[in-house]
Amino acid sequence: MLRPVREVFEGRDAPDLLVGLGAPDDAAVWRLDDSRALVVTTDFFTPVVDDPYDYGAIAAANSLSDVYAMGGKPFLALNVAALPPDLPPEVGAEILRGGAEKAREAGVVIAGGHTVQDKEPKYGLVALGFVDPRRAFTKGGVNAGDALVLTKPLGFGVMTTALKQESARPEDVAEAVGWMKRLNDRAAELGLEFELRGATDVTGFSLLGHGLEMARASGVGLRIDYGAVPFLSRAQAYARAFTFPGGAHDNRKYFGDDVRFAGDFEEWERMLLFDPQTSGGLLLAVPAEKLAALLSRAKEREQPVWVIGEAVKGEGIEVRRG
Ligand code: CO
Ligand code: CO
Repeated sequence: MLRPVREVFEGRDAPDLLVGLGAPDDAAVWRLDDSRALVVTTDFFTPVVDDPYDYGAIAAANSLSDVYAMGGKPFLALNVAALPPDLPPEVGAEILRGGAEKAREAGVVIAGGHTVQDKEPKYGLVALGFVDPRRAFTKGGVNAGDALVLTKPLGFGVMTTALKQESARPEDVAEAVGWMKRLNDRAAELGLEFELRGATDVTGFSLLGHGLEMARASGVGLRIDYGAVPFLSRAQAYARAFTFPGGAHDNRKYFGDDVRFAGDFEEWERMLLFDPQTSGGLLLAVPAEKLAALLSRAKEREQPVWVIGEAVKGEGIEVRRG
């Protein structure tokens, strides 16, 4: 999708652009000086839940996540909103309030933005952060032997689709909303503390799609143990009922050729790993010698972490029963 842009701009036009025009990554990184760089990103989407406040908070957490995925600390944001003309003003206000309170929780100020009219609501942020460019995480920073650590469970796509089809139980929706509203700030701090170099966040391209982007950018393969992958408590039940969003099928079509499932997997199990996530967790590549200390520090900081596999020599992703 970015090809027309890449045909116009070349890396040598912008020597301070450290990340942006090359392999896909979570955000652009612009060097200010040797120890400071700006992280810039934007994201917005249509409602994933019914409650307008939660929708705003999830969209904001999701937009800020790409700053965290680079090891950055967000500090400034702008609203990007499209609201239907017939939407009651108090509903629009709740969306923006949800976003603003989430930003404030992150230590980010929203200094304005832009709203247009559109049939379907859309909301998100333009987010800016700072990172020390010597310590930034990229998708290309993974080495064979690194453990793969995920910081939120999966299943948000299948769950929110069940909600749209009115087949979701309220307690299941509440569980998903709680995770989607959660900031990736502590996960990023953990990565910085342990001087990790490889990270991304798991969003629309699913665990396997974003995992493949990391594998390709790093020149490694990934091995994922299915049994170690965390899911929302009832994600597997919804997956059996096959309430997958269209994006899950797209992801499978787009990334499936580079994924090998070793062993017997049900169709719905494969699809769960292609399930697009909204405001998903970070996927961190952790050198083996740092893993034990990182896991115990995560516990201390009450940051959930799951070791779901490892990077290996080779290419593509192999999913094992685990
Ligand atoms: Co991202
Ligand atoms: Co994004």
